[in-house]
Amino acid sequence: MKVIAFHGSPRTGGNTEILLHETLRGIDAAAHDVRLFSLNLMNIRPCQNCGGCDETGCCIIEDEMGPIYDAIRSADRIILASPIFFFGLSAQTKAMVDRCQAFWCEKYLLKKTIPEGPWGRKGLLLLVGGMKREVGVHCSETTAQAFFRTISVPHHPTLSFLGVDAKGAIREHPTALRDAAEAGEKLVAEQGYAG
Ligand SMILES: Cc1cc2nc3c(=O)[nH]c(=O)nc-3n(C[C@H](O)[C@H](O)[C@H](O)COP(=O)(O)O)c2cc1C
Repeated sequence: MKVIAFHGSPRTGGNTEILLHETLRGIDAAAHDVRLFSLNLMNIRPCQNCGGCDETGCCIIEDEMGPIYDAIRSADRIILASPIFFFGLSAQTKAMVDRCQAFWCEKYLLKKTIPEGPWGRKGLLLLVGGMKREVGVHCSETTAQAFFRTISVPHHPTLSFLGVDAKGAIREHPTALRDAAEAGEKLVAEQGYAG
């Protein structure tokens, strides 16, 4: 399977990155084609709402979204990992998500969904928040759901951890790392939804 993962935190070695690495540890890299995008290190301009993708489903901005578009199109499994910032996805994550407006045009205006491979298309959302307020998960989840459906991913479980603030504090959580590894294993173990 082709697995792609988006790391949306600016904090290197932070909680989101630790959680994402545990998830990827649950995925046998020898058996699967795994590709990680560290969004904070990439040149991704925010969507300009220029209408350039309306009639083609292709974004006209030339930056590092190019390889991401290709990767999303051919992926069997897509992991979106973000810290909760101001009750939503991080800006790094949201910029990439907004640029998927090109896929929105392709799907809803041009009526073309991304075809799925033999394993179907499935997502996984990982969230970490420093506060203990569920509203951050709900807001992030709503945006992530729009992202996944737009890129023709019909199902995605969500793994969220709240009250995890200091850098690396996720390691102290009683179940987070195990939960993440298990979510990774499950992500590639399950068969496609088409049967
Ligand atoms: C700009 C900013 C905004 C934040 N807003 C929230 C928030 O709304 N809700 C929350 O639970 N935590 C919030 N936090 C805390 C982070 O979610 C928390 O520190 C998290 O562990 C960061 O993950 P990371 O180490 O992967 O960057 C915020 C942190 C920053 C820097």
